Amino acid sequence: MLKPKVYVTREIPERGLKTIKERFDAEVWPEYGPPPKEVIVEKVGNVDAIVSLLSDEIDAEVFGAARKLKVVAQMAVGFDNIDVKLATKRGIYVTNTPEVLTETTADFAWALLMAVARRVVEADRYVRTGKWKVSWHPSMLLGRDVHGATMGIVGAGRIGSSVAKRAKGFNMKILYYDVVSRPELEKELGAKNVDLDTLFKESDFISVHVPLTKQTYHMINEEKLRLMKKTAYLINNSRGSVIDEKALYRALKEEWIAGAGLDVFEREPTQLNNPLLMLDNVVVAPHISSSSHETRSRMAEMVAENLMAFFEGTIPPNLVNPEVLKIRKPS
Ligand code: GLV
Repeated sequence: MLKPKVYVTREIPERGLKTIKERFDAEVWPEYGPPPKEVIVEKVGNVDAIVSLLSDEIDAEVFGAARKLKVVAQMAVGFDNIDVKLATKRGIYVTNTPEVLTETTADFAWALLMAVARRVVEADRYVRTGKWKVSWHPSMLLGRDVHGATMGIVGAGRIGSSVAKRAKGFNMKILYYDVVSRPELEKELGAKNVDLDTLFKESDFISVHVPLTKQTYHMINEEKLRLMKKTAYLINNSRGSVIDEKALYRALKEEWIAGAGLDVFEREPTQLNNPLLMLDNVVVAPHISSSSHETRSRMAEMVAENLMAFFEGTIPPNLVNPEVLKIRKPS
């Protein structure tokens, strides 16, 4: 029997890729950077499945070129790069890699938080650039205490909840905003469900964990930033466009807020002329929150599992558009 054809848009970790190459007729884009859109459009015409990353735009143009595409298996938890509605309409399954990256991503939100609050990156630069001339000074590189402060979680789903759990260990007061209430967080951590404005007004640290949707696009704008304390910090490792970056720049530059830790940007890779990069009170990273050896391997493995499930005729474990089941059975 002919093996289903799969196009993989990058060398994903071996643990998943090996299985995909064994089970399918797979072609892998070999370069470090993403394939140009024309390549995806061309390749998708002839495959049964595509393995995508969040930097691949899987939109109407791609679906328009697809003749026998049945699955888009994304190696990420977020899937705002995929037109899921259109996929569903066309009977195409979309899968993602949730849960496995929750704790790793929560760890990294904390890495950004600690780094910006205690000026770790600045301190490193200070030493390396020869600025450390006085052995100890009472006001050298003063930061802000994390322990005992108020943590505001915007979006208390899997990752937001895991960030909140860590806050408990730092003896923090926890506020959260979500479209649904999370009684388990209230019970376990004493977290308080508040409206967004209250969260912005009262938190010392705000960590953002919502998916990017029409509703969350620029949900953190000038108005919200102006509610924050001058001593407060904003952490984002969800999606860049949840924050209006121009407003954030002003907030940081004009010191409406104390600092930010950002793993995500409105445009990625962010360019060196992004004014945010000129500011010392910002710690940045290149969208690496789930990037641990263990988690990335497991994510690749999940991609393979989702593909295999579909082509073995079962429902993929991480199907994001279950409505598609009404249109097409797994084959
Ligand atoms: C990373 O941003 C992901 O969505 O997995």
